[in-house]
Formats: sequence, C-alpha cells, structure tokens
Amino acid sequence: MSLKVEDILKKDQFSKEDLVTLLSANKEDCQLIFEKGKNVKAEFVGRKVYFRGLIEYSNYCSKNCFYCGIRAGNSRYARYQMPDEEVLEAARFALDNNFASIVIQSGERSDSKFVSTIEKLLKDIQQLSQGKLHVTLSLGEQSEETYLRWFEAGAHRYLLRIEVSNPDLYKKLHPNDHHHDYNERLNALHLLNKTGFQVGTGVMIGLPFQTLSDLADDLIFFRNLDIDMAGMGPYIEHEDTPLFQYRHELLPLRERFTLSLKMVAVLRIIMKDINIAATTAMQTIDPQGREKALLVGANVIMPNLTPVKYRQSYLLYENKPCLDEEAEECKSCLETRIFLAGDKIGYGEWGDSKHFKARHKE
Ligand code: 5AD
Ligand code: SF4
Ligand code: FES
Repeated sequence: MSLKVEDILKKDQFSKEDLVTLLSANKEDCQLIFEKGKNVKAEFVGRKVYFRGLIEYSNYCSKNCFYCGIRAGNSRYARYQMPDEEVLEAARFALDNNFASIVIQSGERSDSKFVSTIEKLLKDIQQLSQGKLHVTLSLGEQSEETYLRWFEAGAHRYLLRIEVSNPDLYKKLHPNDHHHDYNERLNALHLLNKTGFQVGTGVMIGLPFQTLSDLADDLIFFRNLDIDMAGMGPYIEHEDTPLFQYRHELLPLRERFTLSLKMVAVLRIIMKDINIAATTAMQTIDPQGREKALLVGANVIMPNLTPVKYRQSYLLYENKPCLDEEAEECKSCLETRIFLAGDKIGYGEWGDSKHFKARHKE
C-alpha cells in the first residue's frame, strides 16, 4: 500500500512511488506539499528572490521541436537578431538597476558567425560591467569547444532544458533526426558541467502523452544529474505547431498549473539548495502564477529586458505575458508582486546556486 502524503513528507528520501503519490495529491494534501516547499526554501536558501534580466536575443532557430512557436518551420514570425548595441543597452539597464545578472536566450544556432558574435558580446558585457554582471546562457546544444569559448569569455551559468527525461517521449515531441537526439542533449548537459558552468535544466509539464510517472522520473533525473538550477513550466499549446492537434487530450490549464506548482514544491523539497525559477509560463495560466511559484519554493525570476518591438516575434507559446511592457515596467511590476508574496529581492547579489558552491567545496 502506498504511503499517505503526510507520511511521505516526513521522510528524508522519496521513492519513485512516493513522488507519484505527491504529484497526484488532492487539493487538501497539496497544501501540505506547498507548505513544506515554502519552509524548505526559507530554511535552505532564504526568502529571497534573485533577478535575472532576460534578453530574448534572437528567434532564428535551426530546430523544429514539435511544441515550440519559433520552430524553423513556422513562417509566421519575422526573424530577428538584436544588434550588439541593443544587447549592451539591456545589460546596462540590468547593471544600473542592480540586477547583478542577465540571461541571454535565443533559438538554437551553432554556425561559426553566431558562436563568435556571442563570444564578443560576452567580452563586451564583462568590460562594460567590469565583471559585475553574471551571465547565464540559454543557447541550446553546442560543441564542447563552443561551450569552452563562451565560458572563457565570461559566461557563468548555462540553462539547457532536457524538456522531458524519458527518451521515448522525447522522440514523440521532436523530429526523428540527428538534430533532435536525446543522447546528444544529455551529453551536452555533461559537457556543460565538465566545462565548469553552473548547470540548469528543466522540463515542460502537462505535455501530450506525458504521465505522472514521467514527471516523477524527471525529478529523479534532476537529482541524479545533481543540477544547480531548474526552470520548469506548464506546456502551453501554440497553433502553428504540430502538437496543436493534440490540444483536446491535454489536462485543463488549471490542472496543468497546479501540477507545475507541485513539481516546483517537490523539487525544492528533494533538492533543497538549488536555484529554481518561477517561470513566465506559470504566469500565462494564472495572473499570479509567478508569485505562487515563489510561495512554494522558487527563488529566481527573470524580468524581461527584451525591447518590446521584438516580443511579438518571440512567442514560444500562446498568451505569453508582458508583450507591451518595457524593462522598467516589468521591473516595477515584479517588485510589487514579490513584495506581496512576502519575499525580498536580492538586489546587487549574484545569487549563485548554493548547491554549485557546495559541490565545488568537496
Ligand atoms: N509551452 C511551454 N514552454 C515551451 N517552450 C517551448 N515551447 C513551449 C510551449 N509550447 C520552452 C522549452 C524551451 C524553453 C526556451 O521554452 O522548454 O526550452
Ligand atoms: Fe528552437 Fe528551442 Fe524552440 Fe526547439 S524549443 S524550436 S530549439 S527555440
Ligand atoms: Fe512584465 Fe508584470 S512582469 S508586466
């Protein structure tokens, strides 16, 4: 017989069965999980939120993931790449506003021009901020050499979502070719770790064909990989993508949201000192989605610094928030939201993953 939620939460280690029980908890038991996530956060990383200014650098992408709005096969969006000056301007905004950290994200490209443009930008950002800005990259799968070049040019952290940790499910959500190979992606995560990055990964929650057993395995995957950071959010359908045809088989949005909150809380409970993002996709379903994620365990938020003129063209999924709000507005909006959630903002602090530091002390 499986244990009750209340009893599972008293244990130090959760089995796969325990994780499935937690993820299927009813409304009442959910509150116990959320409460525990909140307490573990307060005890191990503090009630502090770190800002990472998000720069959606380019929507050119060479890939065709079945779920994503900016996949190469979608001709609806005008493709853009921010000129260097605009990236540096956004970095300057982050610096002036004491964010201490930015994320550069884009569709995936690995041509040599792209690799050297990023390398140059990283050096310019280091120079502009005199080493004060920490930079996270979220630029997909690259060669070991590229990772090393970018690391040496000044990037500190790298986010590469595994998207789903089940290889068979991965195959169903991506074209069956060498550009979309599960083992390559997994290997990229190992290379990033070897290069010396703080490594973050994550999954989408509520995808077609995905089960609670898959999500429990995702949590075990994070634990086994000993990740430093996580970013997870609900899957949200996009009409220009192949997966849209399965929209009638999805969990209702509300349930996808609650399941995402549960994933955040349980991950906080099992990996106490990592950084966990309250992702923008959470806010797409619930206007207070990001605050709710902070209340159950998340401790990182990414205010959008992308110039508004590009935002309509970076729609990975539908109903993305903040399409008309410039950096200044997103900043003050989030300040209010975080204040209402009862957390403090770690202005001027890098907010490095405590887990990473602990790993490197050994
Ligand atoms: N719904 C939610 N998240 C998505 N992403 C891509 N498409 C979607 C979608 N339809 C996420 C992926 C990717 C990140 C940049 O955006 O997890 O890694
Ligand atoms: Fe490209 Fe990333 Fe979208 Fe896949 S998820 S199509 S790699 S931007
Ligand atoms: Fe962008 Fe609220 S976070 S407007």
